[in-house]
Amino acid sequence: MQNFVLYNPTTILFGTDTISQIGKETAAYGKKVLLVYGQNSIKQNGIYDQITASLRDASLEIIEHGGVQSNPLLSHVREGIKKAKEMNVEAIVAVGGGSVIDSAKAISAGAVVEHDVWKFFTGKKSIKQTLPLTCVLTLAAAGSEMNGGMVVTHDEKKHKFGVGNRLLNPKVSILDPTLTYTVPADYTAYGAVDAIAHILEFYFTTKDPSTPVQDRFMEGLVINIMESCDKVLAAPHNYQARADLMWCATLALNGWTAAGLGMVGFPMHMIEHSLSALYNIAHGAGLSIVVPAWMAFQAENTPGKFAQFGQRVFNLSGAEETLAIEGIMHLKEWFRSVGSPVSLTEAAIPEGDIPLIAENALALAKIWQLKGYNNEIIMEILRKCR
Ligand code: NZQ
Ligand code: ZN
Repeated sequence: MQNFVLYNPTTILFGTDTISQIGKETAAYGKKVLLVYGQNSIKQNGIYDQITASLRDASLEIIEHGGVQSNPLLSHVREGIKKAKEMNVEAIVAVGGGSVIDSAKAISAGAVVEHDVWKFFTGKKSIKQTLPLTCVLTLAAAGSEMNGGMVVTHDEKKHKFGVGNRLLNPKVSILDPTLTYTVPADYTAYGAVDAIAHILEFYFTTKDPSTPVQDRFMEGLVINIMESCDKVLAAPHNYQARADLMWCATLALNGWTAAGLGMVGFPMHMIEHSLSALYNIAHGAGLSIVVPAWMAFQAENTPGKFAQFGQRVFNLSGAEETLAIEGIMHLKEWFRSVGSPVSLTEAAIPEGDIPLIAENALALAKIWQLKGYNNEIIMEILRKCR
């Protein structure tokens, strides 16, 4: 167990009929709010009407900034910052999944500085202040609703960079599982893959050889995510399964799994962000391609933790090497079973692009100071994604 500081300032309101509280919760931070949301889903499923009614009931003035796309773009964030500054917005409300919440976080940080918000993503500037942010989550996946992370893609450079700062944590996030009933099967699966990847990034990159508390917690989350995702795909309005999946996805990246692990990395995301940036593939779909390949690459040298994963998550038995490989294959098989791609070919990403993808990923590896990842190693992992 390594030393750690665990601080999470986000209040979570979890359960049915919580959406009506967004107005009152946000009014604590200001009277003029920027409402950030995606393309269309919240207007089609009625969430938009409930949100705006609640905000109006709390006498809040609403400035809208809709149109966030999946794998959110810097250009759209910049427009939101301009709007927030011109209208003297006092708080931001994000209604959507990770793309919307991350865009709202970037606006909350960019609206209070004179320099370009991208400087936060390249490490040239650090975040010292943000506008208050409240959220209503509509998709179980990224975990952005209860963490200080945000990921945005630079339109021209095709760099999809992430940055973390506890000032980005939402003040309040409303998690009502019924709001995810309309998430289609593909994004339900991609969200489950993303949450599993968040867990495995820490599970496999900690240098601490003995982390029994965290291991059992993480292994249990992975099992729960797979079981609840399977139930949701079979019955999209299964409240219990939607609730379990939603809370597991939040727990997967709110700091609790990493507490006590010491230094950890995010190498699978470093590579996946390039797939999303270059081909606009859904984040979780990119991860179901990269995760098994990265695991296979790592297990060649250090099979121990991969064997433990195979034995505890999939109840496998056998020699360490076999266990490690079998465990990876079982996870890859589950990704395939929920309809998420497991190869570059399946995602129609040409094998000949591997050098381009590796070069793009290396830029993020440098910013995230991921030691041990050079062009050749990233290409070797990508070759296992074919
Ligand atoms: O845009 P709309 O019309 O709302 O449709 C969205 C979008 O097309 C749809 N959707 C969301 N809620 C829905 C719904 N459709 C029907 N019913 C609902 N209730 O789902 C699609 C995907 O939404 P998106 O927000 O892109 O998905 P997700 O939540 O997986 O977020 C992915 C983004 O999160 C970032 C990723 O990089 C990616 O950009 N991440 C953020 C992290 C963080 N802040 O900590 C960590 C993660 O690793 C991840 O990188
Ligand atoms: Zn992710």
